[in-house]
Amino acid sequence: MGRSIIVTGGAGFIGSHVVRLFVNKYPEYRIINVDKLTYAGNLANLKDIEDKENYIFAKADICDYDAMLELMRRYKVDVIIHLAAESHVDRSIKDPFTFARTNVMGTLSMLQAAKVYWESLPERYDGKLFYHISTDEVYGALELTHPNGIKPPFKTIASSGEHHSAYGEDFFLETTKYNPHSPYSASEASSDHFVRAFHDTYGLPTIVTNCSNNYGPYQFPEKLIPLFINNIRHRKPLPVYGKGENVRDWLYVEDHARAIDLIFHKGKISDTYNIGGFNEWKNIDLIKVMIKTADRLLGNPEGASLSLITYVTDRAGHDMRYAIDSSKLQRELGWEPSLQFEEGIEKTVRWYLENQEWIDNITSGSYQRYYEDMYGNR
Ligand code: NAD
Ligand code: DAU
Repeated sequence: MGRSIIVTGGAGFIGSHVVRLFVNKYPEYRIINVDKLTYAGNLANLKDIEDKENYIFAKADICDYDAMLELMRRYKVDVIIHLAAESHVDRSIKDPFTFARTNVMGTLSMLQAAKVYWESLPERYDGKLFYHISTDEVYGALELTHPNGIKPPFKTIASSGEHHSAYGEDFFLETTKYNPHSPYSASEASSDHFVRAFHDTYGLPTIVTNCSNNYGPYQFPEKLIPLFINNIRHRKPLPVYGKGENVRDWLYVEDHARAIDLIFHKGKISDTYNIGGFNEWKNIDLIKVMIKTADRLLGNPEGASLSLITYVTDRAGHDMRYAIDSSKLQRELGWEPSLQFEEGIEKTVRWYLENQEWIDNITSGSYQRYYEDMYGNR
């Protein structure tokens, strides 16, 4: 069956992988990428699919309620996969208003437009879905009870009883109470609450998923992994926040996109799914893996870039540890990450080194000037 799907934020990191997957895998679906093209939006991420017949790009701000309603009516939209957001924690510390505007008011505008449009149809909510992509940061931070990590076999067992962590006793479950700390995670938490409120109050068919840290091609080079790979290449300092002891749980971005595809088709309306690969890394250990891989690929002597590591002032309110328990998704829908981390990080480092032009266009700002000429700077 053909479906008409708006993907918001499709020119960003995760959104571009979702758009690519859906456009290629489902030629019978119409995919409308709605993106404001902020600093983080880059249509070069979608060069390979931009001429496909089932793909449409609309430059628009999700906060513009009238424009969202008009797009939904024009394209007879029956599904919204919502990824447009401000996504960088450090920026939220400097400028929380922008995060409240886009992440809270923008999500509310999408929800209200979907409600008004779908309620105007004879079939109302039948066959409709508002799928909100959110983050594990809404759950707050976990304790790092084993800062040096425990070598397998681990003693700690997640509450699912199936998985183990080298760094702490707990995992984030779908039932974990929200406890956001940064303005970014507070805005994401608020957007999740609005989505659930629209289901509970109006019956809007919604799904929310909360995912751990993504990595892979096309991530904006302000985030840890692309920033550090680019700095290694240019022999620039690698700014490690605090002692580099914070733990993050990394998932290859295409595995996140595959999970979204599965949940979109098989997920239960009104439900929540956690997405993550049980792949925790202490920042400093991850950085050393990146250094080793990049030095090898660049033909540098082993360890040549270790001297670039520079410890800097910690991020304010820096969450110590994230760890997602995705066993519900694995158990109920049969999802599993396809890539081992070693393979994923090798692919990722290689991609950034081989796509230097993509990064250079961002660091020089020319990607934005190009699209401003084409679509205007609203
Ligand atoms: P990103 O910053 O790379 O991309 C965001 C996109 O949204 C950009 O294309 C931007 O132009 C667009 N956008 C921003 N404001 C807009 C507005 N007002 N109107 C229309 N478009 C707008 O973000 P990402 O890393 O791809 O994250 C996407 C979503 O997934 C976010 O909600 C984020 O919180 C969540 N998430 C991200 C990660 C991660 O590790 N990156 C992990 C879990 C969840
Ligand atoms: O957990 C999911 C979240 O992951 C998403 O919701 C966010 O959108 C995404 O940006 C990411 O948030 P983090 O803050 O974890 O990602 P970031 O890449 O900014 O930082 C990863 C870790 O590395 C974090 O502990 C901070 C640290 N760091 C980051 C940067 C940019 C450094 O030590 N130095 C740096 O320069």
